[in-house]
Amino acid sequence: MASFKEIISTLPRRKNLGHNDIFLYQGFWCDTFFIEGVMRAQQNFRSQPSDIVICSAPKTGTTWLKSLTFAIVTRSTFDDSTNPLLNNLSHDCVPFLEVDLAQSSTNRDPKNPLLATHVPYSSLPRSIIDSSCKIVYICRDPKDSFVSNYLFLLRILASEDMKPIALEAAFELYCEGVSSYGPYWDHVLGFWKASLDRPDKILFLKYEELIENTVVYVKKLADFIGYPFSSEEIKNGSVDKIVSMCSFENLSNLEVNKSGKHREGTPRAVENKTFFRKGKVGDWENYLTPEMAARLDSIMLQKLNGSGLTL
Ligand code: A3P
Repeated sequence: MASFKEIISTLPRRKNLGHNDIFLYQGFWCDTFFIEGVMRAQQNFRSQPSDIVICSAPKTGTTWLKSLTFAIVTRSTFDDSTNPLLNNLSHDCVPFLEVDLAQSSTNRDPKNPLLATHVPYSSLPRSIIDSSCKIVYICRDPKDSFVSNYLFLLRILASEDMKPIALEAAFELYCEGVSSYGPYWDHVLGFWKASLDRPDKILFLKYEELIENTVVYVKKLADFIGYPFSSEEIKNGSVDKIVSMCSFENLSNLEVNKSGKHREGTPRAVENKTFFRKGKVGDWENYLTPEMAARLDSIMLQKLNGSGLTL
């Protein structure tokens, strides 16, 4: 049987943002490291009914959603002064399917039902789709997500002394659908359609709505994943405490997120602070021309046409 590397070497490939090649696997673009992880996870991962799977395309609010969900699930064990999120990046509290759980589903903390992935809905390991586990999906205005991703890579490449391609060239690729785990519109549509078919299984969130009304969505999230807040907790300010603990201001100012490293000692090490930039809606205005914005808006309108979803 061909090895994963041999299969990957036969896939269509493009240059990514000056970083490395990305390959088209099962209709989405991804670099070798992650595709191999996805292939392994598809083969090995077995989901439990109690699992809560946080799904997203990169740079759409994953770090924040992981923090909120982790804080909700662990609130009876820790409070807002003892929570592990105060000393650990949320990515270190929630295992990543295609990296941490790709070899086996057994190396998990039995007390932690959370896992996360960027894999599109149609390529999720079968057991996640078939089991009664819950999926929470977050998406974001692609203009902000594109800018966030470009600036994230810029910071990573700078730390490796590598030169990225220009923003305009990266934008061109993005509009062609060539982006990590993209095309972005296919990623969003896959989860959107599945959430309409199976509203009890998939909660579909938007970053902008979460920013606008965090308390309401945190309660909705807690209800959906089976950890509802009691009226006593609501009276005691438990929701507000989680919202403040997980706010951009609080998390980005924690020592661990200012000076710590994620996956330290591996080739995929990233400084924790790169996961926190501005956390604002509409920052794309500082990077994209009105023409670029109109072009991406029109692509999205066309791709999402008839789906009932607007972004
Ligand atoms: P910006 O680059 O626009 O600031 P992801 O977590 O999926 O990698 O997405 C990263 C984006 O989420 C970044 O956006 C980052 O600043 C923002 N972010 C990180 N933590 C956040 C938080 N607690 N609240 C709101 N946004 C947050």
